Amino acid sequence: MVNQLQAKDLLWWKGAVIYEIYLRSFYESRSEDAANSSHRGVGTLRGVLEKLDYIKKLGVDAIWITPFYDSPMKDFGYDIRDYCQVAAEFGSLEDFIALIDAAHQQNLKVIVDRVWGHTSDEHEWFQKCRESLRDEEGLPEEDWYVWRAAQSDGMPPNNWFSIFSGSAWKWDPEVGKYYLHHFLASQPALNLYNQQVREKLLEIAQFWLDLGVDGFRLDAVPFWMHNRELENNPPRHPGEPFADGFSPDLPLVKQRQVNNIDSDRLPGFLREVRRLVDSEAYSDRPRLLMGEVAAENSIEVAAKYTDKNRLHTAYNFALLKACHKANELVEILRLALESSEKNTVEEGRICWCVGNHDIERVASRWGNYVPPQKRDRFAKLVMALHLCLPGSVCIYQGEELGLPQAELEYHQLRDPYDKALGKRRVGRDGARTVMPWQAEEKYLGFSEKYPWIDLPNNEQDYRDRAVDRQEEDPNSVLHAYREFIRWRKQHQAAIARGELRILRSVEEPLLAFTRTDGHEELLFVYNFGLRKSRFPLALHWYECLSLKDETPLSNLDFVMSREQEVEHSIILEPLSFFPARLPELH
Ligand code: BGC
Repeated sequence: MVNQLQAKDLLWWKGAVIYEIYLRSFYESRSEDAANSSHRGVGTLRGVLEKLDYIKKLGVDAIWITPFYDSPMKDFGYDIRDYCQVAAEFGSLEDFIALIDAAHQQNLKVIVDRVWGHTSDEHEWFQKCRESLRDEEGLPEEDWYVWRAAQSDGMPPNNWFSIFSGSAWKWDPEVGKYYLHHFLASQPALNLYNQQVREKLLEIAQFWLDLGVDGFRLDAVPFWMHNRELENNPPRHPGEPFADGFSPDLPLVKQRQVNNIDSDRLPGFLREVRRLVDSEAYSDRPRLLMGEVAAENSIEVAAKYTDKNRLHTAYNFALLKACHKANELVEILRLALESSEKNTVEEGRICWCVGNHDIERVASRWGNYVPPQKRDRFAKLVMALHLCLPGSVCIYQGEELGLPQAELEYHQLRDPYDKALGKRRVGRDGARTVMPWQAEEKYLGFSEKYPWIDLPNNEQDYRDRAVDRQEEDPNSVLHAYREFIRWRKQHQAAIARGELRILRSVEEPLLAFTRTDGHEELLFVYNFGLRKSRFPLALHWYECLSLKDETPLSNLDFVMSREQEVEHSIILEPLSFFPARLPELH
């Protein structure tokens, strides 16, 4: 029988703080083998192991490591050639096992990526599949990917776009058919309608579960199954908002993303995956399924995928939008919170990220209206928002340093997606440059060799925010993260699992909401504006207790107390946060 402690641990993911490691840019171990393995500096598994103390000190519960499997690296690891091999540049399977052991000793869980919607075109399944189609031998692999004949006029089977631009169909002259790819043409879509494919993927999942991983981050889940009839996507209605997670710079946003993704059959497969991780074989400890969901309304779809014992949690793209003013930012936040109020299937199931390796860094994406000398304070305010949202959160490496978007010229880009967007934007690569560990070191202490991607052209911003600098400064963003995470844990029940209520009468640039778990009711008010703003306390809140006095919040400069109160209104300083405990209702 599960005792109480175990039962609590079973739900560890509800409200977990997960740290995303973009492996390639995290830290290269200085050990011999790794140093010899590549001409350019590349983050390694041993590098992560060597930085576990840093991660542990942040106070996070788990790490998610981006793909480290054998791959031609055209999409930097999201194009897998062999699901069970470690790419030599990242280390070896032994390194990974050592990393899991060390992380577990530090009570950190380890989550790894599952890319199931597609493989690399160099994967042997695709090679065999092509052969079988060419030779017309009817080998079982024939149906492992999605092949279709051209239309009578030679055009692709339908109007679907690839996320990386152009048609989602690539003509294979040797096979004489088109195949489907949602991303690069070298990332053919697997046919998850084929039971053999699903079984194989689950078998591979077992391989990693047996090694001891604590769960999976499931890549691009809605893309796993499309409309089987291959119906065209309809055009977007004029004025209708774009789908969450799709770049407004590409023509695909003119279509409603409804038939190329998110088939009705997909939730059934998610149940199969859940059955595996919940099975007797893995009952020793809870394993997490965390999905990535980009869709028309990503919160709504994430709710569907986490309902009825499918995924445990899913992160959405609602907060990954860009803005130019405080008011726009508050609008984005409000819409996302309203959608989560409406759609969350169970408290604690939703997962939030404000940044990741696929999007411009939040300090720049949201903070470009903030003057440079206030950027660190802004980063702390964003942190306070992110860490007070219901459910779990993913923090992307470097967010805890308040890193801005890295500036790179077009010719310095490595990412195929950024290149496809042309010279107008540096999206993903600007968030993927290397972690600045040491301000004075040549390559920011990341490696001893020139890194795989150039240092940012705004290098000084990165040096100023390097880990060693921030360690020395008690007011740094890094210290604020450590302290805030510690404080969040003290209010875990209300913050992670409690009910959310948005205060709709509050006007921009303020945002306010309450969180309650029945034991305590907390009020959070944020001023995203660059001027002072007044927050009137409701009559029954006159007795509310400011939480500024609680350690560790008392150390944080952007957190306000009731000292600046005028006639029952809290005067919030620019870019500040007012947290309070509300009096019990009688
Ligand atoms: C990953 C991206 C990748 C894409 C295709 C995404 O969701 O996070 O980095 O390019 O899936 O696999």
